[in-house]
Amino acid sequence: MRKSLTLLCLLCLPLHAAEPWLPFDNQPMGRLDRPLVLRSYLPDPDLEDAVFPQHDAARKVSKYNPGLGADVPGEVQPVPGLAAAIGVNFGPALSYVFDTTEARLMYAWQGGFVDMTPYWGDVQKGSRVSFDYVPRLVGTMFYKAAGKDPIELGGKSISELGPRVFTGYRLEKGVPVFEFSAGATRFTLTLKPSTKPLSCDLVLTSSSDAPLGWRGIDGTRATGKLRFTLAGTELAKFQGYQRDNKITKASVSAGETLFNQYGCAACHSIDGSKSHGPSVGKLAGHKVEIEGLDQPVIADTAYLLESIKAPNAKIVKGYPPNYMPPFGLPDVEYDSLILYIQSLDKPE
Ligand code: HEC
Repeated sequence: MRKSLTLLCLLCLPLHAAEPWLPFDNQPMGRLDRPLVLRSYLPDPDLEDAVFPQHDAARKVSKYNPGLGADVPGEVQPVPGLAAAIGVNFGPALSYVFDTTEARLMYAWQGGFVDMTPYWGDVQKGSRVSFDYVPRLVGTMFYKAAGKDPIELGGKSISELGPRVFTGYRLEKGVPVFEFSAGATRFTLTLKPSTKPLSCDLVLTSSSDAPLGWRGIDGTRATGKLRFTLAGTELAKFQGYQRDNKITKASVSAGETLFNQYGCAACHSIDGSKSHGPSVGKLAGHKVEIEGLDQPVIADTAYLLESIKAPNAKIVKGYPPNYMPPFGLPDVEYDSLILYIQSLDKPE
């Protein structure tokens, strides 16, 4: 069980005070020009204990009875996951989690954000999942914190400078700039999407004259302000909240439901317009240009299946890799999604 704060935050609020907005959708997504900042329980992708020195050890807490408005005999386990974290999403290009108790970047991923179904409830059925506050990740993780804080001052980790204290964040053109201190030194950290796959661009500043660095990245030494690209590798893939849809026979209507439920609609239009991904409206049976291939391929059933199962196998020209999360689904769900996509291109 993760070391965690107790049931502090039962509300889940978008911290976007200037312009509050949140799509009515269990897979909320920001944009490059308007990132979404979400304070919520966020998943713990199996982070090691060494990155939580400032957290309380996981303790049971006394049971609370909302009817009585008081604690009652008995104990409960704290909710697993990161309770005091802030998730930021720039659309499929970049998501990351900053933990406010450790004042540290915890992990970063591409190709989606989080699936809030257990926390917010199912859009169709309306009910949330009992005793499950933690959203599920969607996409490909490429950075995960390990060991001491990677930020270095004068060649030493800032973990050595004293407690790290989160002092807030400000928005610069909508992009969050996290502010924190370690000992007497003040720092800011800004993350932005990079044009390279499985990477992000960082800007780090400090109030100290000692050279700043980031552990493991050579050539990143500067005083006051440091810019660099944090390039990662594929560490893990996540596909959101696992559902048991109990579909027994593939059909177009089941496919339409799944298309919305799995968040496909967040990236694919069905009317031909461009979104984060190509439209699937006029796709089935048509030619598709693929990166690195001279000849177009035909979007037959096998191509559609591969596109959903292993999106990186063939990348549609003009779109980046790793934006589409891979979907490991029962065959009947693949078949339904394919039937739905094929049904969209009926001659008028
Ligand atoms: C986070 C954004 C995102 C989500 C969610 C997403 N896709 Fe995609 N998808 C993309 C992008 C970007 C591409 C083009 C790059 C590539 O080929 O992987 C793509 C490619 C495809 C293609 C090939 C399109 C073509 O023109 O050849 C199909 C089919 C497809 N997706 C179906 C789905 C289905 C079905 C789902 C839901 C189960 C889904 N996608 C969810 C972003 C997304």
